[in-house]
Amino acid sequence: MRYFFAFILGFILLSLTVFGIAGRRGTDFRKPPLEIFNDMVRQAKLRPQVPNSFFADGRSSQPHVPGTVAQRVGGMNNDTWQGTAKNTGLTPGTTNFVATIPVPVTTAVLARGRERYNISCLPCHGAVGDGNGITKKIGAMPVVANLLDKNAIVIPDGQIFQIISNGKAPNMQGYASNIAIEDRWAIVAYVRSLQRARFATLEEVPAADRANLK
Ligand code: HEC
Repeated sequence: MRYFFAFILGFILLSLTVFGIAGRRGTDFRKPPLEIFNDMVRQAKLRPQVPNSFFADGRSSQPHVPGTVAQRVGGMNNDTWQGTAKNTGLTPGTTNFVATIPVPVTTAVLARGRERYNISCLPCHGAVGDGNGITKKIGAMPVVANLLDKNAIVIPDGQIFQIISNGKAPNMQGYASNIAIEDRWAIVAYVRSLQRARFATLEEVPAADRANLK
């Protein structure tokens, strides 16, 4: 019997404690109420577009880091809503690749293309585009397409853009998320210049430079 009363007393005390702490939710307090489990209303996060002292400029929303590449722009399938030749590599309203690069090609663009090619393509396709990059030498990729082959020469510029964007099955992945649209066209221009450098005739070389080649 003694144990029974002790149990009842303990139970009542325990209930009072629990109610005392947790049971008064929703009542008004002067001080913030004790929260055993804090509500999800309060989260340790920055809300968008509000002042915040965490960043130096005092804003919670920060501008993109310079050089951020827009995602899902320039892929062939998800981008028809912005169907310009520059974004898709296609003649608008058709499924035909554009024959020539739809942006102006300048010396600066070519230089940029060379730099970007050397970063993204050279490891596989080689410095001159012949497919003898380091991945072939170390045996990681036994066969890499030779960009100086007829096959790669006859395809339209828009198709090279498309291959850079989406890759080519089975062994080349797409670079749409790594290489900005302008840079993809710059690379196309540089690939064309590599092909030209390999197959130009002597007559196309300025007369003054011909002697150096012989
Ligand atoms: C990881 C290695 C790798 C990288 C990096 C790579 N490629 Fe490729 N590429 C390949 C392989 C392999 C093929 C052949 C596709 C296949 O049949 O698997 C190919 C095919 C191609 C083709 C088609 C050639 C043809 O004859 O049809 C083009 C054009 C091309 N690549 C351009 C590029 C450009 C431009 C870049 C840089 C943006 C690049 N590739 C980066 C491995 C690579």
